[in-house]
Amino acid sequence: MAAIQTFFATTIFRQELVAPAAGAITEAARAIAAADKAGRAWSKAHGYKGYTSYASLNDLVDRAPEFGALRRALDGHVATFANHVGFDLGRRRLKLDSLWINILKPGGVHTGHIHPHSVVSGTYYAEIPMGASAIRFEDPRLGLMMAAPPRRSDAPLDQRTFVSMTPEAGTLLLWESWLRHEVPLNEASRDRISISFNYRWG
Ligand SMILES: [Fe+2]
Repeated sequence: MAAIQTFFATTIFRQELVAPAAGAITEAARAIAAADKAGRAWSKAHGYKGYTSYASLNDLVDRAPEFGALRRALDGHVATFANHVGFDLGRRRLKLDSLWINILKPGGVHTGHIHPHSVVSGTYYAEIPMGASAIRFEDPRLGLMMAAPPRRSDAPLDQRTFVSMTPEAGTLLLWESWLRHEVPLNEASRDRISISFNYRWG
């Protein structure tokens, strides 16, 4: 029997968080969005359909206790992820670098991107109405594949070029920051609310 092994794995961590409650994060996110005129103006100017605090606020974990609680939960899960993928961090730890709100309206998208200068990135989903976008991850080797055939639609998940994950309210996803991902068209009739973040090394 042949010995077939798989190397160069891409790890995505998923955990359903019970606390803080998704409803409390949703309320805090909406309150912050309502008060953040600069963020709403930035979102509009940059064609973001909805609201993001990405460019306007960098103190959410101090601004609202719900986000402080989320940060404490994230710290633990990011440490678990780092251990799982075998990072040798030496004396330095992974630290939260940035955390921001995304309120994506119906019809909104977020095209493919990576998170440069960070180590672990992720998203916590606060409100996922029926029909809300999944998140789609792309094989980081895609640009090197040249003459490789496409994969069958029934190929094993770990052999596919694209993998979509469908979150629910309370879902946390973590991945390494170099992993390209996108949010396809939000086909829900209501807002899709998520909190994204980056952890850096030391
Ligand atoms: Fe992202």
